[in-house]
Amino acid sequence: MDHSEDQTSNLDGLQNRSFMGRFTTATGYVALGLLALTLLIGPANLLLRKRNPVSNYLRRDVGAWTAIVSVVHVIAGFFVHGPPASFGERILSYFFAPDGRPLTNTFGWGNWTGLAATVIVVGLLAISSDFALRKLKAGPWKWLQRLNYALFALVIAHAIFYGALLRVTSPSTLLLGLSVIAVFIGQAVGVWLWRRRHSRTAARLA
Ligand code: HEM
Repeated sequence: MDHSEDQTSNLDGLQNRSFMGRFTTATGYVALGLLALTLLIGPANLLLRKRNPVSNYLRRDVGAWTAIVSVVHVIAGFFVHGPPASFGERILSYFFAPDGRPLTNTFGWGNWTGLAATVIVVGLLAISSDFALRKLKAGPWKWLQRLNYALFALVIAHAIFYGALLRVTSPSTLLLGLSVIAVFIGQAVGVWLWRRRHSRTAARLA
């Protein structure tokens, strides 16, 4: 291969990498937006005075899409960084230093939080069926579904470790801030409405 051909293939590589980087960031934010939506459906039902059952089909569908887009994001994410080595070695380099110690720099923490988030989102997808709800019973099932809050916190930490706060004026970071604010307000309103309604019911029964 002559020198100019070599340069062209390097340039192709760089362009590919930045495409994968952009695709990874885009799918990451779509997954985050869907996740925020799953946390806003409960409070919205309370506000609209609809019944808010333990399980809800809209929330289940949005949750399933959150998991699907997250998995696409994770697979794409493993093509963005790492040495030009086999896929297995490349994945290991996201979590471990060459001497075998766990990576604890911002890149390492970004990936450990991403991994924990992936385990939770896939686990929640696995138990989001009527069959799982019947098997686990409503109490424990609901308790496990609350891992969704931990998932949200892990994804925010993951995005921050990946530098979301270093580009505060970017639309993606704006989306990050907006989803955190929306989820906090939604949850606060949800808790307030739930308490108010339950104290009224208790007063009526007394
Ligand atoms: C082991 C699991 C994961 C890996 C390896 C991973 C990998 C990555 C990578 C490489 C980037 C940065 C892309 C770039 O450099 O341009 C990124 C960003 C991001 N990821 Fe993940 N990810 C994982 C899990 C998740 C999950 C489960 C979610 C959401 C449900 C998520 C949401 C995001 C978001 C929102 C960003 C954008 C952060 C920014 O502003 O740069 N990630 N991820």
